[in-house]
Amino acid sequence: MTLPSKVQIIDVGPRDGLQNEKQPVPAAIKIELVHKLQEAGLQEIEVTSFVSPKWVPQMGDNAQVMAGIARKAGVRYSVLTPNMKGFEAALPTRPDEIVVFGSASEAFSQKNINCSIAESIERFAPVVEAALAQGMAVRGAMSCTVGCPYEGDIAPEKVAYLASLMKEIGVQRVDVADTIGVGTPRKVQAAIEATLGYYDIAHISGHFHDTYGQALANTLAAMEVGVSNFQSSVAGLGGCPYAKGATGNVATEDVVYMLHGMDIETGIDLDKLVDAGQFISEHLGRKNQSRVAVALLNKRAG
Ligand code: HMG
Ligand code: MG
Repeated sequence: MTLPSKVQIIDVGPRDGLQNEKQPVPAAIKIELVHKLQEAGLQEIEVTSFVSPKWVPQMGDNAQVMAGIARKAGVRYSVLTPNMKGFEAALPTRPDEIVVFGSASEAFSQKNINCSIAESIERFAPVVEAALAQGMAVRGAMSCTVGCPYEGDIAPEKVAYLASLMKEIGVQRVDVADTIGVGTPRKVQAAIEATLGYYDIAHISGHFHDTYGQALANTLAAMEVGVSNFQSSVAGLGGCPYAKGATGNVATEDVVYMLHGMDIETGIDLDKLVDAGQFISEHLGRKNQSRVAVALLNKRAG
């Protein structure tokens, strides 16, 4: 087993993290969070989503947030676009990458995006085509690849099916997401292996929520099968409004601490990252959900 020597992290905190907040977060705070993440060395940031403001009012300021970011060279800014309406709204804001998001579970697809898996692919296809024509990169998030809040366990065959559809419409890379954080290492590896039938390992990333405290173990398990790209949220923010009970993504600070401790490069400055996480936690008036951040903040205070 050889682990990667370098890992690329996409911080999804501004999107996955803040989409689930009860209290409105001003656009200026979101913009400041993105700035702090890029200062900390993040090279990929998922900024917002161009979804219906009736469904997810928290992301209603999408264009304003995109327009307010002072972009740093070398950083890839991505946004979620579920359909052509979302893509057309996103286009003038010049994202580097758009993300279509499907589900391995039929029930979750219905609850989250109001259509079947097959219908979602029909909606994504013109989005993918238009994005590629504009020279934008295209990622596909695959939700509920190990478990679904409505259907329970998800078989790897369902993941393979979704990956095959994503591949068919031209999606360049995919995220194997454990939306509700129920996965354990072997199950996550099985979902990744199912995806490998359609995507090269370099084009698969891991997106693990930490509801059951398994996300770091799942990250290591994904690295064991060769994954070197992960999504996480600073301060462990996150959750999906249509996946009740699911908590945040694994904290970026926790992933970075583990990786650096294993001599795996990330290009991220952990101290600056802790500052970014503390900035948003204080704004939300909430305890920082990263164990590493809390430990380092205690050490600083002491
Ligand atoms: P729908 O109601 O079926 O859409 O929603 P529709 O096409 O019938 O349109 C209904 C209304 O919405 C119309 O407005 C449209 O114009 C408008 P009206 O005529 O009633 O005034 N509309 C839009 N407005 C703005 N932007 C758009 C858009 N599309 C339609 N793009 C839709 C379908 C997909 C839009 C809706 O279900 C939706 O917005 N869902 C969002 C779900 C979401 O954001 N979930 C969280 C992100 S996924 C996630 O967190 C998982 C992930 O992290 C990975 C993991 O952990 O698994 C990625
Ligand atoms: Mg998520």
